[in-house]
Amino acid sequence: MAQEQVVTPWEVSGSGAIDYDKLISQFGCEKLEQRLIDRVVKLTGKRAHTFLRRGVFFAHRDFEKVLDSYEKGEKFYLYTGRGPSSEALHLGHLIPFMFTKYLQDAFKVPLVIQLTDDEKCMWKNLSVEETKRLARENAKDIIACGFDISRTFIFSDFQYVGRGFYENMISIAKSVTFNQVKGIFGFDGESHIGKIFFPAVQAAPSFPTSFPHLFGTKSKIKCLIPCAIDQDPYFRMTRDVAPRLGYQKPALIESRFFPALQGESGKMSASDTNSAIYVKDTQKEIKKKIANYALSGGGDTKELQRKNGANLKVDIPFKYLTFFLDDDEELERIRDEYGSGRMLTGEIKNILSDVLWKMVEQHQQARLAVTEEMVDAFMAPREMPFMFEK
Ligand code: TRP
Repeated sequence: MAQEQVVTPWEVSGSGAIDYDKLISQFGCEKLEQRLIDRVVKLTGKRAHTFLRRGVFFAHRDFEKVLDSYEKGEKFYLYTGRGPSSEALHLGHLIPFMFTKYLQDAFKVPLVIQLTDDEKCMWKNLSVEETKRLARENAKDIIACGFDISRTFIFSDFQYVGRGFYENMISIAKSVTFNQVKGIFGFDGESHIGKIFFPAVQAAPSFPTSFPHLFGTKSKIKCLIPCAIDQDPYFRMTRDVAPRLGYQKPALIESRFFPALQGESGKMSASDTNSAIYVKDTQKEIKKKIANYALSGGGDTKELQRKNGANLKVDIPFKYLTFFLDDDEELERIRDEYGSGRMLTGEIKNILSDVLWKMVEQHQQARLAVTEEMVDAFMAPREMPFMFEK
């Protein structure tokens, strides 16, 4: 019997590929339709991001409402985050940040980025000091994605939580029972109380009054959260309590997982270094990992590949190109050539190595340019007078 698929913020498992349609109906979110993507293009005057054109971001909650009010001149803010559990970010970790940067540039809106050092301290059993260090290191990789300092506030929970933020956490916590979080997150009587309380910490940035230095006491400004779909449970809970506390429900735009080199049956694992391409990998390492580990849908021999072509449904080099090769025509050419057998596995793997190295090299250069002063500047609670400016 097929093993039931499990998707929670801490576990993604199942037999075979994730069934994303099933996830949409199970979670109760909506499919991101082409109609909405067309509206984004119209409203921003910018070409749709690769991740929109290729269905990487594929689900949403109330995204249309955000667009409706934006059209009427009402601004919103973006909220995303990262749990700093390791220094080594892989390509999957960059996806929400690359996409959030595009949204920030396209809509010209403020952004808050939560580094949940507290979460990883509890779930990964790391020391407080170590998670704080990791949060700062990860902030450098995030800054390297190119965020605009005049509209981006990055914060670590250990450093920032207090005042308006803490007041919201307590209001949220008061509105959710133990039975509710048991149902949503699967906690039980053995879960320590830190874990049971934590969802209130991840929920709080969805409400603007958690950031008085940005939004003062304005409580009606809308929040849009770009994230991978495994974070949906947190925000289902948040959306449930929002109206009771006098806030708007946060809207969401949600992505698929970036598959491991070994194939599409879950998220890339941060612990298995051969399952992922890391942002610190060298060109040689990238080439080698793709050559040795990327699951191929191509024929077992050159003759079979020429005769039958490749199975693009399982082929990882092709999948990775759908995420990161921006050129639509070139992708179609590869689909055609490789799918029909005129192109061999070695060739598509070379194309992918070049595409990824170009991206990783650029990231490495940008990260080298990030100074400690820049980290301090992004993480300083401050007013951002130009955050809505065109
Ligand atoms: N829990 C997330 C993680 O482990 C981090 C996170 C906090 C986050 N707030 C978020 C992710 C908002 C997306 C959106 O990575």
